[in-house]
Amino acid sequence: MELMNFTKIAAGVYKACTGPKTDGILALVGNEAKLDSINSNYKDMPMPFEGVYSEKINSKTVVCVPKENSERFYGPGLRFKTIATNFTAMHLRCDHYGNSDNGRTHVPTPFYVSDKGYGIFIDTAEVISYYMGGTVRTDAKNPPVALNRGRGEWFADTPGDFVEASFENDADVYVFTGETMLDVVAKFNLLCGGGTLVPKWGFGFWHRTHIHYDEKDVKNEIDLFREKNFDLDVIGLEPGWHSNSYPCSYEWDEERFPDPKRFVNDLLDENIKVNLWENLFVSEKATIYEDMKPYSGSHMVWNGLAPDFTLPEARKIYADQHKEKHIDIGVSGYKIDECDGFDNWLFPDHAKFPSGRNAAAVRSSLGILAQKATYEIYRSINKRTYGLVRASAAGSVMMPYCIYNDCYSFEQYLTGLASSSFCGCLWVPEVRDADTSEEWVRRFQMCVFSPMLMLNAWANGAKPWQFEDVEDIIRDTIRFRKSLLPYLYNAFYTYRTTGVPPFRALCMDFSNTGSSRMSELDHTENPYESLLVSDIIDQYMAGDSIMVCPVRPEQKTRTVNLPDCDWYDYYTGEFVGNSTTIEIDCPLDRIPLFVKGGAMIPTVDRENNLIIRCYGESGKGFIYDDDGETYNCENGEYSLFSMEFNHENGVLNGKYLPVHCGYNSEYSEVHFYDKKDF
Ligand code: GAL
Repeated sequence: MELMNFTKIAAGVYKACTGPKTDGILALVGNEAKLDSINSNYKDMPMPFEGVYSEKINSKTVVCVPKENSERFYGPGLRFKTIATNFTAMHLRCDHYGNSDNGRTHVPTPFYVSDKGYGIFIDTAEVISYYMGGTVRTDAKNPPVALNRGRGEWFADTPGDFVEASFENDADVYVFTGETMLDVVAKFNLLCGGGTLVPKWGFGFWHRTHIHYDEKDVKNEIDLFREKNFDLDVIGLEPGWHSNSYPCSYEWDEERFPDPKRFVNDLLDENIKVNLWENLFVSEKATIYEDMKPYSGSHMVWNGLAPDFTLPEARKIYADQHKEKHIDIGVSGYKIDECDGFDNWLFPDHAKFPSGRNAAAVRSSLGILAQKATYEIYRSINKRTYGLVRASAAGSVMMPYCIYNDCYSFEQYLTGLASSSFCGCLWVPEVRDADTSEEWVRRFQMCVFSPMLMLNAWANGAKPWQFEDVEDIIRDTIRFRKSLLPYLYNAFYTYRTTGVPPFRALCMDFSNTGSSRMSELDHTENPYESLLVSDIIDQYMAGDSIMVCPVRPEQKTRTVNLPDCDWYDYYTGEFVGNSTTIEIDCPLDRIPLFVKGGAMIPTVDRENNLIIRCYGESGKGFIYDDDGETYNCENGEYSLFSMEFNHENGVLNGKYLPVHCGYNSEYSEVHFYDKKDF
């Protein structure tokens, strides 16, 4: 094994390569690293260990990162069952999640974080195997004690000296050090370009209509939303808008949408954006079919071409067609489906691609490169986009896309929210259906504190008001989401400028909220008595100050762990505790929310007044604003105010001071509220 030679590239960020010819995903995506933001926001820190080693074994490169037995690891890759990964083995590759955290996932980003305050990123698009501390070399410096199970001694996992990873070809390896896991993740996010800029309309309500809907059906649906007094901000069209889908033509079905430009603009006149579903497999009926052929792989997918998006020529053909047929007529964005795979439908690993890259690497980069191609068109016309994608990779942090899947488990969707914060992506726990009205409400509520509030009715034509007994609750839930726009916008501003994820696992802010314990022997269910490493996933942070405690369907009460700081009830403003565990009632119309003492939460009411909710005795905050539609904020057209509040003789004093005034906010009035006014 050779010691790798690391060079510092920013405060507490180090880089080395395993060989002369690295060809990672970051270079393919081409985001600009925000090293200045790392330097200005975070501390410089030394390497957390003496060295990382690399070695060539057969056709593989192996990287060995030293570890201690007391460390806890999070990542690599998007996960749905647990977020801590100690002793797991994973073969990370891009795939649809198949109900096991074995490495096959929508976002196989090879980045993991240690609670000791560092993170490791191996910049490769190849399949990569990770052994998270359970492999023991014969020459181990600190070998585990050999046990004798027959004598009652037992521990199934054998702690080794290293986390080991192996992959084909060479790669750059990055080490990020930070005072907390949050700093480490933020540095990684900034290296990958910093958080994405989401349009304001993206925080509204999204409704994806039935797969067979035509123009008339969509407009009828919009009328119903109006009649029922439900907010609607984005309509998503599912496969039936294409003249052919699976594989896709990317051309409008002339019978269903005879005049797409008029259709899209009619909706825009009502302040409703149109988002188009597609997958990336090109139909023979597509006008781009012949042009795309030379830039496609040796195997078809659903009888369509599989383009090699690592080639700029392929991306250009796709992008030019999309610009002309969709974006130039006002379409606001895309849902890029099925780019993750499902082995039985995708091309095989031995497929050949014109770039000469391995098929697995082409597969891993398909989703992120399609995001990049569409994002760049919108940037070129100075318009923001926001959409959905089913596969992503390093670099996704900068892309205005959310990850989703078909699994529909409440528990897994919740875990996805926590796990996504460790791999630089945004995860959406969409609503599709429910067995009871209670479940319907609880699913909507979880989405309020997620990157996108969306009902995906592609298969069942569901409507938000379909459970009559909770129609009012759902209407109010959607309105509640919209009232949070200034707060969520702040959180995404922080994401962009400092790399801090807007929705994140509780342990990222409060590292002592996880637990490890030996499990009990069960000779059929758990014959190895493996270590149980668990974290609180049904509590997570949204923005700087709100801890969200979603309620599972059927739950009438729940336990809330209040980590180390003063916590206040969001709705009443009352102090609830610090470093303690409480039991709360869960009325159906409320999402339990706890706010950090001293926080100022900006919200907007239906009359467009800015209401700043103040918690505790005194505190500070900020409010960021811009036009919400363009990239003009990058040229200084934004406003930033610092805020403060305190109480004198029980009377609330709130003030805000301009830090930057490049944009005039359109709020009617500004009010500071405390618990007396809630
Ligand atoms: C699935 C996707 C669904 C829906 C459907 C349409 O792959 O996850 O959300 O879009 O395709 O065929």
